Order: sequence, then C-alpha cells, then structure tokens
Amino acid sequence: MKAVVVEQYASIDQIALKDVPSPRIGPGQLRVRVEAAGIGFVDGLKMEGRYQTKDPLPFIPGTEFAGIVDEAPGAPGGYQPGMRVMGMTRSGALAEEIVVTPEALYPLPDGVAAEVAASFRANYLTALYALSARASLGAGEQLLVLGAAGGTGIAAVQIGRQLGARVIAAASTPDKRAFARQHGADAVVDYTQTNWRDTLKELTEGHGADVIFDPVGGEISVQAFRSIAWRGRHLVVGFAAGAIPALPFNLPLLKGGALLGVDLAQLPIREPEVQKRLMSELTAWLVDGQLKPVVGRIFALDDFREAFRTMQTRGALGKMVVRISK
Ligand SMILES: NC(=O)c1ccc[n+]([C@@H]2O[C@H](COP(=O)([O-])OP(=O)(O)OC[C@H]3O[C@@H](n4cnc5c(N)ncnc54)[C@H](OP(=O)(O)O)[C@@H]3O)[C@@H](O)[C@H]2O)c1
Repeated sequence: MKAVVVEQYASIDQIALKDVPSPRIGPGQLRVRVEAAGIGFVDGLKMEGRYQTKDPLPFIPGTEFAGIVDEAPGAPGGYQPGMRVMGMTRSGALAEEIVVTPEALYPLPDGVAAEVAASFRANYLTALYALSARASLGAGEQLLVLGAAGGTGIAAVQIGRQLGARVIAAASTPDKRAFARQHGADAVVDYTQTNWRDTLKELTEGHGADVIFDPVGGEISVQAFRSIAWRGRHLVVGFAAGAIPALPFNLPLLKGGALLGVDLAQLPIREPEVQKRLMSELTAWLVDGQLKPVVGRIFALDDFREAFRTMQTRGALGKMVVRISK
C-alpha cells in the first residue's frame, strides 16, 4: 500500500510517499480502507520530532481519518466489513490502509462525506468540550475566538454560535476574517493591530469576552486575558504561535477570571462518559444539518506535502484534508 513514511524526524520536504506492506491485523483489531485523512498541527510537530511525545521511527503520520471497514475478524465492537467509519489514532492515517482497535472508531452517519468526517472529530470535539464542558458557555455570552480561521478556531466559531453565544473572531488577514464571518462570526477583529483590545472593548460595549478560545498562545494570549470579562473563562487549547505564554497571577485575581486547560487526548481516558455524550451531540447536529463542518482544502495523496506546507506557513483556512482513495 502507499503511505507517507517518516524515517527520520525531519521537515515535510524530506518526507516521502512509499510503497510499504499492508499492516498486519491482530486479535480484536480491524482493517480500514482510508478514504480521507485530516492534517493536524500536531502531525507536523510529530514529523519534526518536536512534539511532547515522540513516535518511534519509522512511523506513518496522521491521526484522523474516515474510511470503510475492510476486514473485521470476529466483528470487534460490532464493526463489519463495508461499514463507514471515522477514526482517531496516535498515528498511521496517511496511508491507504490502517489497522486499529474498535475504540479508535466511531460509526460514520450516512450522507456525511469522508472529507468532512476526516476533518470533523478532533476539531469539533475539542471546540465542544472546551466551550461546553470546560467553560460552560451560555447563550448570549460573548465568545472571543483567537486564530478563528484555523482548524480548531473555525470549529469554535461554529460551535459557539450553535450554543447561542455572540462570536467575535480574531484573525490576522482580511481573507481569514471574511472566512470566519462566512461561517457564523458576528464580529471580527484584526489582532495583529496594536490597538486590537480597544476594538474588542468597543465590540463588547466595554464588557470584555466572557469566554476566550485560545489555540494560538504567545503574547496574544496574555493580551486577550487582560480583556476578559468579570468571571471570564480563558481556554488554553494550543500554541500555534510557538511560544507558551506566562500569565501574571494578579490578572485572574483582578478579573475574577479563570484559566482552563483543554486536552482532547486525555478526554477518552479521564472522562469517557463526557466524550460519549459530546460525540452523540455532535453527530446529531451533523445528521440533522444544524452543523455543517468546514473542510478547508482537499489535496491528493501525492500532494500531501503541500497540505502540510499550507498549514505550517499560516496559510490555511480551516482544516487541510488529504484524499486517499475513492
Ligand atoms: N488542546 C487540544 O486538545 C487540542 C486539540 C486540537 C489542536 N490543538 C492545538 O491547537 C493549536 C492550533 O491547532 P489548529 O489545528 O487550529 O491549527 P491551525 O489550523 O494551523 O490554526 C492555527 C491558527 O493560529 C494562528 N497563528 C498565529 N501564529 C501562528 C504561527 N506562527 N503559525 C501558525 N499559525 C499561527 C493562525 O491564525 P492567524 O493567522 O489568524 O493568526 C492559524 O490560523 C495547535 O497548537 C494544536 O496542537 C489542541
């Protein structure tokens, strides 16, 4: 089968598509023919060996996928060949086939395209977990989304609207701000401007943001926290800008505010019931059309490098997806 193979931790330009043997299927496992894989920020870090955990070499990157069950001896988890699934795994999704345990899978509802499913689960579950289970975002509250045109950002814009909040999208370019508006943001702010906090103050009529969804990090995070409303909640989602900010402790005191961590990787282990509930909520919205997840750009498998480069050069609108098989 064809697969993207990381033989040495390296930049995307040095990573190649190879012909490798199909993965062997073990007891309790099943084989999925991958139709599409989503490219996540973490995948880029893992390839370069810059993520907090290192995958042993060689490895096939890719943590999120959608496809069709191809082989399921003993029907683990009730899965049968021919069933459509979406999955999340530690690695291996950028390949024509993947072998997983049933816990990695979730049935894919009819009518949902593989490209949508491959870009849906991680970002939308992160957004819903953060906004609902962590921040208890209420209808009518003001939500500020940083990096709002990125993969998790645009999911937070849509989920914020779905939960009834007023969404203010912060992004660096006119195209990104237009994209956020197109997907439901009520207002936008250019957070590369030095006076962006004044604009935010005007947009919230002096109230500040009740909830801040922050996948960006760096100095912007501390600036954003300074604009939080009384009893506001700042969600620590990621550090796309690279630097991990440090918050002076007097700020939460003065603002009556809270800093809340969000880690999707720990959700199935620490709060499996919450994950189950949130996934059913998301799939119900997906099936009845209340939620139309954004697919950024779709690339052919041969062009996987371009998908990574687009994301890594801050050029992506939404999540990048690689189409693997029809
Ligand atoms: N906690 C969790 O469970 C969880 C789950 C998923 C992802 N994450 C993390 O969240 C972060 C964002 O992921 P994502 O998928 O949303 O990424 P993404 O699609 O690349 O979006 C990140 C956004 O950050 C902004 N940004 C600011 N400085 C940047 C820089 N130097 N390079 C790249 N982007 C920069 C960009 O918006 P502007 O150009 O508008 O500034 C960009 O749209 C990553 O650190 C990822 O690991 C965490």
